[in-house]
Amino acid sequence: MKLRKVVSVVGAGNVGEHTASLLALRGLVDVRMFDLPKRDGEKLIEPVKGKALDILQMLSALNIDGKVEGYTVSPDGEGYEALKDSDIVVITAGFPRRPGMSREDLLDKNISILSVIASKIREYAPQSIVIVVTNPVDLMTYAIYRLLGFEKNRVIGMAGVLDSARFKTFISREIKVSPVDIHAYVIGGHGDEMVPLISISNVGGIPLKDMLSKEKINELIRRTQFGGGEIVDLMGTSAYHAPAASIVEMVEAIVTDNKRILPCSVYLDGEVAEYYEAEGLCVGVPVKLGNNGVEEIIKIPMIEEEREMWKRSVASVKKNIAIVEELINARSSL
Ligand code: LAC
Repeated sequence: MKLRKVVSVVGAGNVGEHTASLLALRGLVDVRMFDLPKRDGEKLIEPVKGKALDILQMLSALNIDGKVEGYTVSPDGEGYEALKDSDIVVITAGFPRRPGMSREDLLDKNISILSVIASKIREYAPQSIVIVVTNPVDLMTYAIYRLLGFEKNRVIGMAGVLDSARFKTFISREIKVSPVDIHAYVIGGHGDEMVPLISISNVGGIPLKDMLSKEKINELIRRTQFGGGEIVDLMGTSAYHAPAASIVEMVEAIVTDNKRILPCSVYLDGEVAEYYEAEGLCVGVPVKLGNNGVEEIIKIPMIEEEREMWKRSVASVKKNIAIVEELINARSSL
């Protein structure tokens, strides 16, 4: 009998590796990691197995019990049998954008990777809840939703938790209050036009707009919107500690059924799509997470200025949905 929930992490790059490590440290779930082999000169090596072993040894050093396994897979989908019985699958696999690569090239490459992974999730873990991390995350969440054909409550993109954590960090440093006592949601697409909801942000219950000047708030908003880029500029590669922690927050909400309200990228249709003026795409909104994945989509109030920002953010996601749809259709007719 399976005693603990199983979380599979597909892609063991920086984000995947740190997600596996943090999940193991929390001691709540068993972890399985999947990644491609790597060429080291003449030799083919299996970093994912090494990383899993290293994490296990870390657990031993810290006297924490846990199960962590690494599995080497092939680009065409061999080796995914161990996805079986996963309760949650986290997808971090994908290409980062390289110089000379258009956005469309990146979409095409990542959709082809994700379509292999989606077919394996359907085969081995058809009941799982899937968390999508691959960028551009709102579009990739939509692609996975379409490729899997799962109910919409079981496909969830990670971005809002990360963007909100960044915003809270900047507020916390500015006013010298613990981020724990700061409530601030960042919704919308995970891009430069994400929407920090100032009208409802508060610090210990006191509205943020009463604590900082409009100029200062705007400065923190801009820093949040370019928060990913700031890290890339400093580190020469994408962030991974805060993204991994954000994934863990979502996994824990699902596994422990704690019903946290977290901003996540989800598919919108029906009444909520009407409220958000965003039908048939995935974009970040506050949702209640529990054992069933997305248990409710919250209709958060926005003042007019925020609604305008929101519409721009949705439009920036929407303009690429048709391209994603075309790429998916081209693939399924192969
Ligand atoms: C970031 C990447 C993970 O925002 O999208 O850092």
